[in-house]
Amino acid sequence: MRIPRSWLFVPGDSEKKLAKGPETGAHALIVDLEDAVAPTAKVEARRVSRGWLEAHRRQVTMRKQARWVRINAIDTGLWRDDLGAVMPGAPDGIMLPKAAGPDQVRMIAAEIYELEQKNGIPNGQTRILPLVSETPRAAMTIAAYMDAAMPRLAGLTWGAEDLAAALGAGRKRDSEGQWTDAFRFVRAQTLLTAHTCGVWAIDTLHADFRDEDGLRRAALAARGDGFSGMLAIHPAQVPVINAAFSPSEAELADAEAIIAAFAANPGAGTLQIDGRMIDQPHLKQAKALLGVE
Ligand code: COA
Ligand code: MG
Repeated sequence: MRIPRSWLFVPGDSEKKLAKGPETGAHALIVDLEDAVAPTAKVEARRVSRGWLEAHRRQVTMRKQARWVRINAIDTGLWRDDLGAVMPGAPDGIMLPKAAGPDQVRMIAAEIYELEQKNGIPNGQTRILPLVSETPRAAMTIAAYMDAAMPRLAGLTWGAEDLAAALGAGRKRDSEGQWTDAFRFVRAQTLLTAHTCGVWAIDTLHADFRDEDGLRRAALAARGDGFSGMLAIHPAQVPVINAAFSPSEAELADAEAIIAAFAANPGAGTLQIDGRMIDQPHLKQAKALLGVE
């Protein structure tokens, strides 16, 4: 499966929104059992989500849309039953909110292993994506994922809402629309740690879903900074994110020119194109962009 760029949350208790999910063009849907679901609707959400996962098992695989589930946090006591309820639907992965560190990822990995056996799912197929920034302590220890071997780890992502609440922060962005310090810190840590682990770095969502220009800027910044994708909360955000993560004609042409320049000068370590120095990192990026060896 291609790298998922757009990750759309869908409340797990909403049959209507779940039915809309496959049409949104999102590369991955995250069926949410956590914050989008009221405490009184948790049990119903498990039932609805499982039904949807089972119904879309084949159809969605053919459309190459990944199906993920966000379970409830470890300290809620709900997570084990969440996993038990949704694993028969063979989700592509599990998002773990309020992750306190690699130990919690290992804990759910052990449970997932058992449930894969029980449900006839190939061992190791179910991936894990932790939200690594949702408490101040978690935000301070994101780098801990670096030294932990976790074969199911698909990526790292971060969220601003819960951290803002924990900090009592009345704002997350400054007057210019840039993340304030604490959020810039966790965003950078998430990016660097994910790349150190060789897993996807997924940028957080743009909460104001009617602000298309702001979202476009955020998504272009995410891609420009080295994130592989971005979270979304509304179908209208999906095409904007997909477009921002698609290379432009100019970028493709530039990558082709870089590769051609080195091909024409075998043995050269560094060259120039129209007064711009290019060397091995540029060649590497150009090849990555075009998907060539
Ligand atoms: N997934 C699938 N469909 C969605 C959707 C989503 N995340 N968000 C909205 N839709 C649907 C709506 O049901 C509506 O469908 P309709 O045209 O058939 O009636 C359509 O898209 C337009 O929605 P709109 O009226 O603009 O918004 P809304 O008031 O219905 O919903 C939110 C707004 C924020 C409640 C909704 O977008 C949502 O639930 N987002 C996800 C929230 C979430 O999961 N949060 C947890 C992670 S932070
Ligand atoms: Mg939350």
